[in-house]
Amino acid sequence: MRELSLHVLDVLENALAADATLIELEINEDSAANRLSIRVTDNGRGMDAETVARVSDPFFTTRTTRDIGLGLPLFRAAAQRCNGDLTLRSQRGVGTEVLAEFERDHLDRAPLGDMKSTLLGVILSDRVRDLRYEHRVDGRSFGLDTRELRAVLGDVPFTHPSVRDWLEEYLDQESLVLENPGGPSEGSD
Ligand SMILES: Nc1ncnc2c1ncn2[C@@H]1O[C@H](COP(=O)(O)OP(=O)(O)O)[C@@H](O)[C@H]1O
Ligand SMILES: [Mg+2]
Repeated sequence: MRELSLHVLDVLENALAADATLIELEINEDSAANRLSIRVTDNGRGMDAETVARVSDPFFTTRTTRDIGLGLPLFRAAAQRCNGDLTLRSQRGVGTEVLAEFERDHLDRAPLGDMKSTLLGVILSDRVRDLRYEHRVDGRSFGLDTRELRAVLGDVPFTHPSVRDWLEEYLDQESLVLENPGGPSEGSD
């Protein structure tokens, strides 16, 4: 895939399908270590050990609407092409963690792509209660936690036009916050 955000979308879809009420997405970029990692954690129904093992096999899926699920195998292949790997941890009734690691400046490493649309698609879909997003680049940090937003909004839904506009404008600042040295930053490492 041409953008890592498409792999992320697939992992988020898996979490939604597992009826997660909280999804956490963390992207960590460390230029000194030349690493980029993407971690998605959900509190959905999880998988037993056998399923975790079988999901690593591209010819397995528990979905009945299609014969083979390739989301995780394709994400793993993308990471492995970049001297990285994908690690899957899951526990039935507890949740799932997907960690994909890449060599950051590898020639085959796809750009992150449109994270804004990916996040908005999930937040505005009303298919999950809460989402926490954090993107760190060399100690600079940008993030969003819908639990904090919810506390401010009360009963106003995320799909309210004013909230939508605010979310769009807020997420537009991501590259500014992460790329502009000396610019505003939320917290430090
Ligand atoms: N976060 C998750 N929680 C529970 N089960 C999951 C999760 N992610 C993946 N799975 C299981 O692994 C299977 C394979 O996922 P994936 O490779 O993305 O293919 P697909 O989503 O097309 O089935 C899913 O069908 C599901 O059974
Ligand atoms: Mg999938």
